[in-house]
Amino acid sequence: MNELVAETGSVPDLRTTQVERSVERILRDQHESGALVASPDFTQYKFCWLRDGSFTAYALDRAGETEAAGRFHDWCAGSIDRAMPLMSAALERLSAGLPVEVQAMPPARFSLEGAVVDDDWPNFQVDGYGTWLWSLHQHLQAAGGLALPSGLVPAVKSTATYVAAFGTSPCFDVWEEDGGSVHTATLGCVYAGLRSAAAMLDDDALAEQAEAVRASVLGRARRDGYFRKSDRSGDVDGALLWLGVPFEVVPLNDPAFVETVQRISAELDLDGGVRRNPADTYYGGGAWPVLTASLGWYYTSTDDLVAAERCLSWIEARFDDEGRLGEQFGGEGRDPHSYWEWVQRWGPPAADLLWSHAMYIVLATELAACRPLPVGATPTSVHGAPLGPSHLPISGPQPTIANK
Ligand code: BGC
Repeated sequence: MNELVAETGSVPDLRTTQVERSVERILRDQHESGALVASPDFTQYKFCWLRDGSFTAYALDRAGETEAAGRFHDWCAGSIDRAMPLMSAALERLSAGLPVEVQAMPPARFSLEGAVVDDDWPNFQVDGYGTWLWSLHQHLQAAGGLALPSGLVPAVKSTATYVAAFGTSPCFDVWEEDGGSVHTATLGCVYAGLRSAAAMLDDDALAEQAEAVRASVLGRARRDGYFRKSDRSGDVDGALLWLGVPFEVVPLNDPAFVETVQRISAELDLDGGVRRNPADTYYGGGAWPVLTASLGWYYTSTDDLVAAERCLSWIEARFDDEGRLGEQFGGEGRDPHSYWEWVQRWGPPAADLLWSHAMYIVLATELAACRPLPVGATPTSVHGAPLGPSHLPISGPQPTIANK
């Protein structure tokens, strides 16, 4: 028996079943290419986003589905290899001192076959590339501490170079909005990506670049006692939770981070779920399972299991009878006008989002790992996989964090 499982606990049966169903849905919707579609039932989302897919692959690793996660990473490497001319062109413009050509930047999402989609999507979103590097590194560790396979080295190297070069430039945020700001949550993804690439490639220069990004988060994004959404907005954003877990940019007890979490819970709460940010009007700006799970993940990491359980139960109440879990909930009541505006434009919101399932799996396995094993109980796991551990640490020395 895996020692980790022995130290952890069993998921209550009903929950185990739901976690298994979510894992199965993700596996069912994984394209034969390895791509993870954002949503099988929403036309605008029939692509694979690096951001959604990377978190989803991480959840697959947590559930013991390392083979499926590995196929996603191979798909990413192949897709990124094909997008290399775009990366090179962007880097050449940068070194020639030319401005960023937003529409010609490497894509935020690819077709399921791994092609760059030629449309007007706001592609310049660096976070997904950072999150992919982080997720790949987590995968290699989950698969037993594997070295980076040689076939993936070119994609990892070019992604790291791209992320290092553009990581602190203004670009669209993790919600694909406001392309003119430097977004703090994006910096978190960039930091984790560079640290992960540094570990995978054994490259000290990348580790130094990661530290420079962290310094900018601590120095510029931490103002007035909390972490701001961006250099141009003093709002908070649910994605700022990732600065603590899983990206480890700041310690969880950093007073400004604690204040940020408090603001997120107070200002972005909608009936127990977490909204993206105060200004959100996308489908009425409902509450997202992805973010509610992120808040729960923070709570498991700070040992507030009651609060974490509340987040998990909120998500569980949102599965429909067919086991689908949507992107967001409650927008139609919160802001009917913008909700219906979006319905008219794109139809009803995504009723099944792989990233929502993924974050549910992460929180459920995380909570299970926090519970003591009842005396005499047999540890169970999803698909026979070890439950937990909490996010795997990024290897290498952890720098100290100086409070400003
Ligand atoms: C979200 C993105 C997400 C995409 C696909 C957008 O509405 O803002 O974060 O990557 O949908 O799920």
